[in-house]
Amino acid sequence: MNNRFKFKGLILFSAIIVSVYTVSINGFTNQPSSTLLVADGNALYAAKCATCHGKDGRGTPNWRSKGQPDFTDKNWQKSKTDAQITDATKNGKGKFMPGFKSKLSDEEIASVVARIRTFGK
Ligand code: HEC
Repeated sequence: MNNRFKFKGLILFSAIIVSVYTVSINGFTNQPSSTLLVADGNALYAAKCATCHGKDGRGTPNWRSKGQPDFTDKNWQKSKTDAQITDATKNGKGKFMPGFKSKLSDEEIASVVARIRTFGK
């Protein structure tokens, strides 16, 4: 095998790797978000919210002092409608709670709201 052949082989090999990679990435991102419903509220919460709100939903002392609610507090749960929780998640609240409108689909937000409700049970 001369060097020209080796070079072509390398190019072909890289092209295959790149396309396999692209297909698998698209495989994830093109997944219809309905397949992420409710079941993934847990995962989404863990990935996007738990750093500030805590894995257990109680919040963290630092943020609590800035007005963050304890999601396990039954009175807090009662005082909020799903629409209010959805609105805070979409649009953020105050100075510190970021809005997730551009990062999560409506279905994903609904699944995270359902997850937050489970902290009250
Ligand atoms: C950077 C930290 C941070 C992240 C990340 C974060 N939050 Fe918050 N969140 C806060 C703080 C701080 C507050 C209190 C805001 C206030 O009342 O001024 C808050 C408040 C809330 C509230 C209560 C709003 C109300 O009406 O009392 C909800 C609901 C909420 N967050 C949901 C979420 C969800 C869902 C996620 C993930 C998708 C998330 N948060 C991610 C910091 C964060």
